Amino acid sequence: MANNRVTFGSKLGVVLATVGCAVGLGSVWRFPYMLGANGGAAFLLVYILFMIFLGIPVMITEFFIGRHSRSNTVGSFKKMAPGTKWCWIGYNGILAAFLILSYYSVVSGWTLEYVWQTLSGRLYGQPDIDYTADFQDFASNVFRPIFWMGAFIGLTHFVIVSGVEKGIERASKIMMPLLFLILLIMCVRSVTLPNAEAGLLFLFKPDFSKLTSSVVLSALGQAFFSLSLGMGCLITYSSYFGKDTNMQATAWQVTIINTLVAVLAGIMIFPAVFSFGITPSAGAELVFITLPNVFGQLPLSGLWSCIFYILLAMAALTSTISLHEVATAYVLEEFHMTRKKAALIVSLGVFFLGIFSSLSFGVMKGFTVGGLAFFDALDYLTAKIMLPLGGMLTCIFVGTRVDKKVLKAELTNEGTLKFRLFGAYVFFMKYVAPIAIGIVFLNELGILKWITGK
Ligand code: TRP
Repeated sequence: MANNRVTFGSKLGVVLATVGCAVGLGSVWRFPYMLGANGGAAFLLVYILFMIFLGIPVMITEFFIGRHSRSNTVGSFKKMAPGTKWCWIGYNGILAAFLILSYYSVVSGWTLEYVWQTLSGRLYGQPDIDYTADFQDFASNVFRPIFWMGAFIGLTHFVIVSGVEKGIERASKIMMPLLFLILLIMCVRSVTLPNAEAGLLFLFKPDFSKLTSSVVLSALGQAFFSLSLGMGCLITYSSYFGKDTNMQATAWQVTIINTLVAVLAGIMIFPAVFSFGITPSAGAELVFITLPNVFGQLPLSGLWSCIFYILLAMAALTSTISLHEVATAYVLEEFHMTRKKAALIVSLGVFFLGIFSSLSFGVMKGFTVGGLAFFDALDYLTAKIMLPLGGMLTCIFVGTRVDKKVLKAELTNEGTLKFRLFGAYVFFMKYVAPIAIGIVFLNELGILKWITGK
C-alpha cells in the first residue's frame, strides 16, 4: 500500500484535529435544539446510550478502515473490496458532506452576525430588547444571512486552498479550551438564574412517556451528527493517523469530550430557557435567542458575548473544514482537477444550495419538502437517514468482509496495545449497531407497527 501519505506530527495533533472535526455547532447549537424539540431528559438519556454503544464502536470501525487502507472515503472501500458496490457507502458520505455543509454554513453565518451585532452595540446597548424578535428580524431578512453564510464559506474556502489547516489546528488548541471555559462560566450564570430548577429538571429528569420513535431517531441522528460519523469524515482523518496512534483511546476521548460539551451546552441553555420564558421547542433558533439573555445578565455582557461567538465560529470552522475537505478531495481525484478548482466548485455549489436553506427562515418558509422547510428537510435527510445508514453499512462491511485477526492487529497496533473489550467491540459493531439502527429506521417508518399489528 502507498504509505507516503503525510501523517499527523504529534499524538495531540491527531486528537485535536479529530476533536475539532467533531466538536462544533453540533454540540453547542444542534444538541440543545434537538433536546428541546424532543421533550428533554429522555432524549438526553437515549442520546448518551447511543454515543457509548453505537458511537464508539462505529468510530473505531471508521478509524480502522481509514488507517488500514490509507485512503479517502470512496478509495478506502475500493481498495478493501475492489470491483464491488461497497464504495457506494463513500458516495453516500460525499453527498452527505456536501448537503450538511450547505445548511451548516447558514448557522455558522449566524455566529458571525452575532459577533457583529455585539460589536455594533445593538444586542446589549438598548434596554428591553426582545431577542426573539431580533433574531427573527435578522433571519427573515433576504440578504444579511446570505451575506454571512457567504463570508463563512469564503473563510472555509480560504483555509482549504491555502493549506493553513495546520495553523487553524494550532490556534484551536488554545481556543477550544477557552470555549470550554466560557461554557462553564455561562453554566454557572445560567443555573443561578431565577427558576433555573425548571430547566435542570427538563434536562435531567426523564419523562419516559415522551419517548416516541421520532425521539429515538432524533437521538440517533444527533449522536451520528455530533461525532461526525457515517460519512467517512473520520475515515479520511484516520488515514493520516500514525502507526502508533492509539485509536481506541482516541475514540473514547473524542466521544467523552463531545458529550461533555453537549451536556454543558444543555446546562447553559435550559435554565435560561425556563427563566426567560422561551419555548424549549423553538427550533433552530433556540440557542441564538436564549444566549443573549444570559450574556445580558453578566457584567461586561458585550465582551463575553463577543468572545463566545468568535470561539463558536472557530469551532464551526474546524468542522466546516472537515466537511469541505471530504467533498473537495473527491472532486479533485475523480475529475483530475487542481485543488483550487475543485475547492471552488464545492464552495460555489454549497453557497448556491445554502441560499435556499437560509431563505427557508424567511421568504421561503412556506416552501416545504415532505412537510418540512428546506433547511429542516436537508437536516432530516442527512442526520437522520444518510449518516445512520452510512454507519450501518460501514459496520456490515467490516463485520462481514474483514478477518478478525486483521481487525485486531490494526486496532492494537500489531499487538503493542491491549484491547480488552475486543470481543464486546466486535459484537457491538457486527450485530448490535446494524440491528439497532435498522430497528430505529423500521420503527420510525411505522413498519414495525404494521408488522406487529399494534
Ligand atoms: N460533528 C460536527 C459538529 O458537531 C459537524 C460535522 C463535521 C459533521 N463533520 C461531519 C457531521 C461529518 C456529520 C458528518 O458540529
